Amino acid sequence: MTSYILAIDQGTTSSRAILFRPDTGIAAQAQREFPQHFPASGWVEHEAHDLWDTTLATCRAAMEQAGARAADIAAIGITNQRETTVVWDRKTGAAIYRAIVWQDRRTAGFCARLKAEGHEPMVSARTGLILDPYFSGTKIGWILDNVPGARARAERGDLAFGTVDSWLLWHLTGGTVHATDATNAARTLLFNIHTGEWDDELLALLRVPRSMLPEVKDSSADFGTARPELLGGSIRICGIAGDQQAATVGQACFQPGMIKSTYGTGCFALLNTGTTAVTSKNKLLTTIAYQLDGKRTYALEGSIFVAGAAVQWLRDGLGIIKASAESEALAEAADPAQHVYLVPAFVGLGAPHWNPDVRGALFGLTRGTGREEIALAALESVCYQTADLLDAMRADWAQAGGNGAKTVLRVDGGMVASNFAMQRLSDLLAAPVDRPVVRETTALGAAYLAGLHAGVLPKPQRFADRWRLDRRFTPTMEPALRETKLAGWRDVVRRLTMP
Ligand code: G3P
Repeated sequence: MTSYILAIDQGTTSSRAILFRPDTGIAAQAQREFPQHFPASGWVEHEAHDLWDTTLATCRAAMEQAGARAADIAAIGITNQRETTVVWDRKTGAAIYRAIVWQDRRTAGFCARLKAEGHEPMVSARTGLILDPYFSGTKIGWILDNVPGARARAERGDLAFGTVDSWLLWHLTGGTVHATDATNAARTLLFNIHTGEWDDELLALLRVPRSMLPEVKDSSADFGTARPELLGGSIRICGIAGDQQAATVGQACFQPGMIKSTYGTGCFALLNTGTTAVTSKNKLLTTIAYQLDGKRTYALEGSIFVAGAAVQWLRDGLGIIKASAESEALAEAADPAQHVYLVPAFVGLGAPHWNPDVRGALFGLTRGTGREEIALAALESVCYQTADLLDAMRADWAQAGGNGAKTVLRVDGGMVASNFAMQRLSDLLAAPVDRPVVRETTALGAAYLAGLHAGVLPKPQRFADRWRLDRRFTPTMEPALRETKLAGWRDVVRRLTMP
């Protein structure tokens, strides 16, 4: 019998299941994409049942690939796209509206009103977040106000809210467990990250009945058991974390001052700040990195909404590449004398601008601009945005007494496969960029949290010792050129975001 750990990674564009061996090597993996729905400008939705159906299908496929039975699996760990909001009927288990995705901007007007009424300082002090449609709280209110009869049903206690982890957990356990972990709760605008509790004043402000909320647990804990008929036997569920927090764990960023940056649909950089919840002076978020044995470890987070999605846009929107991997060769062939900038504000801008209304733009086009320069501009837009985040992080961390200068960035996610993109990132950050051997850090983090609770994986420090460097990228760009390029980026962003 093998003690596998099954990691579920439910992301924005696909669901994945990875079966890890006890030495954290990968035994099998499966992936399924599902449709994205864009019913109006700035709206993004998923069919909630697609999230569950594809998750279950990938778990079964991964187990079949490895020839693993339920009895061979010590535990399940769940990691998920964060903030995406599902409201469902407790009796039927059916969602009453599609899942409203984290990228969705429909509540921008409501957020602006709350800000104008002066609520933001109180909200930020308690949640570490800002009043932006990105987070779950205002999305729940929208569903309750727009689905006929929903508010009354919620007030009667008939409806449940969950981020995607809770939604999957509910279905895995046959509707017997309604829970989440502290990292996911921290993204709702309803959770006080200092006391570790749902906050009545925030619930009242966003008009969310308390009865809808899941129980909040440690990230490594007993979350119940998957029903035997789903995967051919009962399996314990022992870990949950939001995907960016799981990547922080998978990258073994356990020491204060360590930073990871994950390049998926968006890009999310997290700086571990230890047991101190550092308040940002530079519009970063304060969030929970993980909660173990009731002890919260905090992080500063920079959230960029479009990273890999910019490359997807080259493929699906412009049709100038057939596969994402082609963008690298195209960008390498770009004319270095041209300075084309893409600001990929397709769904507004996240940190450090927090502007939900601005939309994307291309600057610096000439008669000589072609596919190559646009591909380079897309890749560089990710680097520039990371540079903005890192500057903000270094400043906040230095102010909090940390050493901001010695920043090494651990990177992961689809885009880090490109040596060209990682070299350009290091050049534009003027800092080393470390790429690990294991790139599946999000799933690994979820597996680790589950394996830790199940007793098949070691304590954090010993797990950290297993982290292996694949390649370190160090800056080679002339400082003057970097400065010119960064100044150009700041100029175009300023022009776009000017009131
Ligand atoms: O906050 C949103 C984030 O969790 C989504 O991650 O990997 O789908 O870009 P990803």
